[in-house]
This record gives sequence, structure tokens and C-alpha cells, in this order.
Amino acid sequence: MDLNNEIKRRRTFAIISHPDAGKTTLTEKLLLFGNAIQTAGAVKSNKIRKTSQSDFMEIEKQRGISVSTSVMAFEYDGIQVNILDTPGHKDFAEDTYRTLSAVDSVILVVDTAKGVEEQTRKLMQVCRMRHTPVMIFVNKMDREGIPQLEILEELEEELKIEVCPYTWPVGSGRLFQGVYNLYDKAVSIHASEDTTRANEGVRFNDINDPGLKKRIREETMDTFREEVEFVQGVFEPFNRGLYLDGYLAPVFFGSALNNNGVLELLETFLQIAPSPGPVEATERTIVPEEEELTGFIFKIHANLDPNHRDRIAFMRICSGKFERNKFYYHTRLKKKLRFSSPTSFMANSKTVVDEAFPGDVVGLYDSGNFKIGDTLTEGEQLQFKGIPSFSPEILREVNNLDNFKTKQLDKGVRQLTDEGVAQLFIKQPGNRKIIGTVGELQYEVIRYRLEHEYGAKCNFSPLSYNRAYWITTGNKKQLEELLLHKSNNIAYDKEDTPVYFAESDWALKTVKEMYPELEFHSTSNFKSD
Ligand code: G4P
Repeated sequence: MDLNNEIKRRRTFAIISHPDAGKTTLTEKLLLFGNAIQTAGAVKSNKIRKTSQSDFMEIEKQRGISVSTSVMAFEYDGIQVNILDTPGHKDFAEDTYRTLSAVDSVILVVDTAKGVEEQTRKLMQVCRMRHTPVMIFVNKMDREGIPQLEILEELEEELKIEVCPYTWPVGSGRLFQGVYNLYDKAVSIHASEDTTRANEGVRFNDINDPGLKKRIREETMDTFREEVEFVQGVFEPFNRGLYLDGYLAPVFFGSALNNNGVLELLETFLQIAPSPGPVEATERTIVPEEEELTGFIFKIHANLDPNHRDRIAFMRICSGKFERNKFYYHTRLKKKLRFSSPTSFMANSKTVVDEAFPGDVVGLYDSGNFKIGDTLTEGEQLQFKGIPSFSPEILREVNNLDNFKTKQLDKGVRQLTDEGVAQLFIKQPGNRKIIGTVGELQYEVIRYRLEHEYGAKCNFSPLSYNRAYWITTGNKKQLEELLLHKSNNIAYDKEDTPVYFAESDWALKTVKEMYPELEFHSTSNFKSD
């Protein structure tokens, strides 16, 4: 098959939601309907369950599981589906944002009883920024929830995107029976109690089919008909162009747990979701059909086996064909690398691949060459952009608790921060290491991993600053003055860019007034913009 066909038959996406809306359950059911797994219950939840307090074993389990479930690929009707997993816990939201840079579309899951929640809003903000096409799955229709018209209104208002129903529920709550596809006009009624298997339900191609009457109570059917008539009058029909441009989200109703509405979602997704498209690099736009390979690293994961310090770097292929054992150019290190066992991920197993195409994600074994955002090409000097780096909200100093293990601690801190778990800043005098994160849980993870993977013991002490700002300027003199007079608040990131630590918004404002020619950036992203 030629490159063009390989591109056209790929769908790379992520399922995102506020924790507990049903992302894991829906992922599993898509795998089930895609024949990638035979029974539900095989894929374990990639999340730290409902704890804000850490449970170390749980963190370890989570890390292990998320390596194998980072990408779940399967083929359905000749289409290669790549689902990129995202962690559920909010302290790992950064991981999710980065994953969003590697997908072509998303499915957003909302709990019918809860409506739009905090994480949903934040994730949608990232999608809007990137113009990512979004489909919405309103889940748990088997429970009493917000009336459908109200939820549509809420989605539109809170997520700031136009919506249009694509399917409509037949009944809801206790009376939820199935879904009606407003476009192919077929009703699918949930039929089997065994929800661990891919049961398709019973399909009626006409809303007036007498068979439907036998299965559904008259009142339910009457209300359903009225609702359908109403929504068809009120909502503009689905427009694929608007969806692909990220302005319109088709909405599907269902119950992932009961396999209800899932097949309609999957089949429509395969029809309308985009295949890999152009990707922006600092130098130019790259289109997937280009013959030469390009790709970027959006996630790095330490290997599970503590005896091997290897890591897996996840690369999204943006153009060309990736081949095993071929030399590729690492544009930051300006060196050639080749990979003897690149890995692809099918459902929950890993296999070595000989080739991969745009939209695919390959796992590259790495002994320390990669950082998040690194680009591989066949020789061209390129840097993909738009891989978000975050603005730390908590800053803490690392205290070494075992002087014999200083080297191990140094190495561990550098490698873990390369993975994107947190950011490292060095403060003088004394090369003090300051770690910035967006969540408390990251410190627990780092401390645990430093001890178990690097044999180094440390703890963290709080600092009075709560924000880091990267400084740029054309005025060298002002910068030097700041570095001299405010040295207490200055640190350097790994690339030696100066960073200003602020105690408060007010403190930042004062400094800005004193040094008007300096620019303060709340993320290090400005470097690649
Ligand atoms: P998440 O990944 O978005 O965090 O959510 P997850 O799929 O783990 O689902 C959260 C809870 O909601 C789970 O229950 C799950 O069984 C339930 N759930 C998912 N889809 C539906 C649905 O369509 N209807 C109903 N009624 N419930 C649904 P749990 O008790 O927290 O976990 P578990 O013990 O069942 O795994």
C-alpha cells in the first residue's frame, strides 16, 4: 500500500474526560467492538484511583500499566485506529496536554448527571486552542441525569463550541433503551445482559418499525418521537467541515458500561474523524505525504524493569515512512540515531515493528538521548512546535539525604525532569536544585522513583515562591541589573535560560515596573513559538 493510502486509513485520537466520567470504560468498549480484546475487564484503568494522597504501589502500578496502554491500536474495517491514552489524575494533566499535541481528533466523555466539570473545561480549552476536532459522548444515560436539551445547552455554553446531536437516546435513566442515529435513521436497541462482550444490540432501520413497538413502552416511544422532531427542527444539520475545523462538536448519547450507543459512536467516528493532517514546525508546515520521515517525541516513560535504565520515548510520526534500523537525524543533538527495536502497541501488547506511517506512534528505546519535544528527520533541521510546557505552580528545593549518592541523585533528577514529570531549575550559590510541578503528587512520584530507580534519597523543602517566569529581553544591561540585584529570586533552567521566581503577582508587577524592557514568560514555550 502506498504512503497516501496508509495516511488515509489512519485515525489517531485521544479520549479525554474529567475523572470518573467513563473514559476507561469507553476506551475498553471501543477495543471490544474493534475486536482488539475479547472481553471487557482486560484493560485496567490507567489512573490513580480517587486518591489525592499517594499510594506508592498504586503509582507504580499506574506507571506500569500506562506503558502498555499508552497507545492502543487496532484495525476495524481496514482502518487503523490509534487511541492515545491520557492519565485520569489531575496532577498529571500536563501529560494529557502533551498527548493532545500528538492526536488528530478527540472524543470527550461527559457524565450525564454531572455535566461539564472542571477538567472537561480545561481540556476543551486546549482543544480549542489547537482547533482539534471534538466529538462528545454523553455517558451514563442509564442513570438519571440532566435532561438532554439542557445538557446540549450546557455543553455549548461551558465548552464554547457549537454542538449538534448526532444520536438521540430512546428513553433515559431507568428507561434508557438505545439510541437513534439522526443521520442514518436507524434505532439500535440494547439487547443483551452480557456487557463484557461486543453485543451489537438489535437494529431497526425505521423509527416506525412495528418491531420497535414490541420492545419499547408506548409513552417512551411517544416522548422520543416528539424529542426527535424537536431537535431536528432546532439544530442545524451536522456539517463535517465545521467539525474538522474545530467549531462544531457532534454529540452522541449512550452508556459505555452497557455497550449502549458505543457502536454508533465508533462507526461514525471512523467515517467522519480526520486522518493525519499537516503539522507546524518552527521552520515550515509539514504535510504527511512528504516522503522523508519527520516526527516528534511527546512522551517519555521510564522502563518498568528496574534492572534496565532504558526509557521508552513515544514518537508521533508526522510525515514519511519510519523504518527499523534506518538512521534518523536528532535535530537538537545534531546526531544520527537508529533504532533496532521500535515498538508498536496493539491493544495491550507490544510488538517490534519494521515500519510505521504518519499518525502512528512508535516507542523508541532510549538511553537518555530524548527530551519531550525532540524532533527526528532524515537530515533537515526542523523543530516541531506546540508541545506545551507548563508553568510550575509549586516550587520546592531538593535536599540530598545521602551524600554517598549525590551523583545518582543528580542523574535521577535530570532524567526524570527530561521525562516531563516536572521542571528542574538550578539556583546559585551552591547549585541548589529546585523542582517545579503543577501538582503535589509529582513530588511523591519523584521521591519514590529516585529511591527505587536511582538509589538516591531526598526530601523536598517548601520555598516562598510560587511562580517561575522565563526572562527574555533585547536589553542586556537591564537583564544584568536584574540578575545582580534580585539574585535571590533568580535560577536557571536546564538550557541555562534565566528564570525569575516570584512570591506573588504583586512582586512580579513591581519587578516588571522596575525593569520595563524585560519580558516575563510563564512557560518556556516562547522558545519554540
Ligand atoms: P474514568 O476513566 O473517566 O475515570 O472513568 P471509569 O471508566 O473508570 O468509570 C468511572 C465509574 O463510572 C466506574 O464505576 C464505571 O463502572 C462507571 N461507569 C462508566 N460508564 C458507565 C455507564 O455508562 N453507566 C453507569 N451507570 N456507570 C458507568 P466505579 O464504581 O467507580 O468503578 P468500577 O469498580 O465499576 O470499576
